[in-house]
Amino acid sequence: MRTQVAIIGAGPAGLVLGQLLTNAGIESVIVELRSRDYVEARLRAGVLEQGTVELLRDNGIGRRLDQEGLRHDGIYLQWPGTREHLDFRDLCGRSVWIYGQTEVVKDLVAARLGTGQPLYFEVSDTAVHDIETDRPAVTFLDADGHAQRIECDLIAGCDGFHGVSRPAIPQASSRTAQRDYPYGWLGILAQAPPSTDELIYAWHPNGFAMHSMRSPSISRLYLQVGVEERLQDWDDDRIWTELSTRLGHAGWELATGPILDKGITPMRSFVSEPMRYGKLFLAGDAAHIVPPTGAKGLNLAVADAKLLADAIIASRAKRARTPIRTAGSVRAEPATLAGRGQNLLDSYAETALRRVWRCTHFSWWMTSMLHIEGSDPFARELQLAQLRYLSSSRAAAQSLAENYTGLPYGW
Ligand code: FAD
Ligand code: PHB
Repeated sequence: MRTQVAIIGAGPAGLVLGQLLTNAGIESVIVELRSRDYVEARLRAGVLEQGTVELLRDNGIGRRLDQEGLRHDGIYLQWPGTREHLDFRDLCGRSVWIYGQTEVVKDLVAARLGTGQPLYFEVSDTAVHDIETDRPAVTFLDADGHAQRIECDLIAGCDGFHGVSRPAIPQASSRTAQRDYPYGWLGILAQAPPSTDELIYAWHPNGFAMHSMRSPSISRLYLQVGVEERLQDWDDDRIWTELSTRLGHAGWELATGPILDKGITPMRSFVSEPMRYGKLFLAGDAAHIVPPTGAKGLNLAVADAKLLADAIIASRAKRARTPIRTAGSVRAEPATLAGRGQNLLDSYAETALRRVWRCTHFSWWMTSMLHIEGSDPFARELQLAQLRYLSSSRAAAQSLAENYTGLPYGW
C-alpha cells in the first residue's frame, strides 16, 4: 500500500500525530504491535498539561476530557510537619488536567477509527527500510499473518522505548545520554475517594510518596521503592500503612479501599540523538524517557507529535497549491516534501530536542529533590532547603509552575 506518512506505534505520540495529519488532509497508516484492548487499558500517566488539553480540544478530541477530566490549579508539596500549596493560576495563569492516559488513548483510537484512516492492531515483525532514500517503507505481518508493505514519504517512529525505530538509526550516527535511578515507583489504583483536592508530592525520610487520582471515586498513589523490591513483598496492608506514614499530616487522614491494580516501574532518564535520520523521524518515548515525577512523559510525546505534524503539514502546504487529479477526485499530491516545510522537517529534531532536554532537566530536578537516596544528611538537608525555598520564594515557585503546567511547543 502507499501512504504519505507511515506511523509505527499507536500510543499517544502516534495517535496524536495521525489525528493532526488527518485533520490537515494528510494520509497516514498506523501499525501497532498490541491489541486495541491492551493499548486502551495500559495504566500509565495521569496529568495533562494545559497545552496538551488545548491541542486535544482544538483537534476534536476534547469532549469526554471536558466532561470527565478534573482541572487542577496547583499541587501540594509536603515534608514532615508542612504541607504547602502552590497555586499555578496565581503563579503563571495556567492549570493542568487529571485525565488518565488510558482515557486519552481510548478517545484517540475512537477518533482514528472514525476517520476511516488505517490503523492495524496486533502486527508483528515490523521493520523499516530505505530510510536514507526518498522511497522509505515499513513492512509488517498483519493480525492474520499476511505480509504487508507500506510505501511512504516519511516514517514516524512512535513505537516507544522498546520499539524498532530507534535501533534502525546506525549506531555510528547516534548517541544516547542516560541516568538510571536506584529506585522505582510502586503504583496502585484504588477504589477509594481521593483524600485531597489536588496532587500531593511528599518528601519523607522513608522515601517519596504521591497522592494522585483518576476520578472522584478512584485514587492513584505511588511509593518510592528500591530497584530490587518485588511486588509480592508488598501486600495491601503494607502499602496502605506506608502510604499513610509518608503522606501523613496533622488532622488529615488517608481514605483506603480495594486495590484494583498495582505495579512497580523503574525510573530512568534517557535521550537519544538525533531524533531524525533520513526519512525516519522519532517522537515520544522512542527517543526519550523521563522519570514520572514531573508528569512529563505523555505530554512530551504529544509535544513531539505536534512539532512533527506542523513540519509535515507545512511541507505539504507548499505543494498543495498545485492540485492534481487522481482516480475520480481532485486532490493535492505531495509527491515529495519541499520548500519551507522541508526546512521545518530539517529543524524538527533540533526544535524537539531543545524542549526534550528542558523537560529532562525538570523531571530529573523534581525527582532528585523528592526521592531519598542513601542516608547522607547533607543531601537530605539540601532537599529540604530547596523545598522551603519553593514555599517561600515566588520566583522559585513560578519556575516550578511554568515547567509543570508546560512550556510552549516551540520553546
Ligand atoms: P508508548 O505509549 O510507549 O506507545 C508506543 C506504542 O508503540 C505502544 O502502543 C507499543 O505497543 C507500540 N509498539 C512498540 N513496538 C512496536 C512495533 N515493533 N511495531 C508496532 N508497534 C509497536 N508518564 C507520566 O507522565 N506519568 C506516569 O505515571 C507514567 N507512568 C508510566 C508507567 C509505565 C510502566 C511506562 C512504561 C511509562 C509511564 N509513563 C508515565 C510515561 C508515559 O506513559 C509515556 O511517556 C507515554 O506513553 C509515551 O507515549 P508514546 O506514544 O511515545 O509511547
Ligand atoms: C498519575 O496520576 O499517574 C501521575 C501524576 C503525577 C505524576 C506522575 C503520575 O507526576
